[in-house]
Amino acid sequence: MKVQDLHKRFGRNHVLRGLTLAFNPGETTVVMGPSGCGKSVMLKHLIGLLHADSGEVYFDQTRIDQLKESRLGDIRRRIGFLFQQGALFDSMSVGENVGFPLREHTDATAEERRTRVERMLHMVGVPGTHDVDPATLSGGQRKRVALARAIILEPDIILYDEPTTGLDPIRSDIIGELIRRLQNALQLTSIVVTHDIQLSFRIADRMVLLHEGQVRMTGTPEEFRTTDDIEVRRFLEGRATVDELAGLEPNHQSAEVELT
Ligand SMILES: Nc1ncnc2c1ncn2[C@@H]1O[C@H](COP(=O)(O)OP(=O)(O)OP(=O)(O)O)[C@@H](O)[C@H]1O
Ligand SMILES: [Mg+2]
Repeated sequence: MKVQDLHKRFGRNHVLRGLTLAFNPGETTVVMGPSGCGKSVMLKHLIGLLHADSGEVYFDQTRIDQLKESRLGDIRRRIGFLFQQGALFDSMSVGENVGFPLREHTDATAEERRTRVERMLHMVGVPGTHDVDPATLSGGQRKRVALARAIILEPDIILYDEPTTGLDPIRSDIIGELIRRLQNALQLTSIVVTHDIQLSFRIADRMVLLHEGQVRMTGTPEEFRTTDDIEVRRFLEGRATVDELAGLEPNHQSAEVELT
């Protein structure tokens, strides 16, 4: 999956400013960047929920940014999306939520759906919640249920928008582990938008930092750890723990001075 020279404006707000980025199949790419830099907007272009002013979006070899809604549906079925807000339907049980894509997109019988839903709930670590009212779940449990729903059609690609926001560090760690395991189990291509630096280093095969609607840097976690790009370091150090800071860059003090 890739985007090529994407531009998107909302009125006078020029959000994507020539965004070019390719996501390697079978890898986890973590996309970071300051709040408002266009991460969620980028994800929405990948599934055709938003349309670019110019530029191109490809799924495999297929250009999808100009597809009709009907053809886009086939593509969307192959992409799982974990929305920033989790977005469970509170009028449905957990099991109905997770089974919803099966009802919409497949001919599976109620019994088949139930079996697959139970399997997914087990996979994401909330077994036995099929008949539970989602309103009674904790934030971490809701994220997992939403994750089960995102993967139930066994997509080729999964997009995660801030999968750990609002979760305590332990639950964030569990979500990170889940993202890893799902990728291995389902051979997924994963695209994870986050500003959880700890999570990023834990799960990324490749990292991307967006800045002002463009790619500031792409590279391996190691390349990010050792980069001397001032913007990248400022971003990473702003959110890192004391331990991580110590390991990042010995003379970041002098870099700060240069910046001002
Ligand atoms: N539908 C929309 N209409 C108008 N402006 C929008 C719309 N969606 C996003 N924007 C604007 O585009 C910019 C980028 O938004 P986006 O949601 O992509 O940020 P983000 O990088 O995901 O930030 P965060 O880390 O806070 O989630 C923001 O200025 C936002 O107000
Ligand atoms: Mg966002």
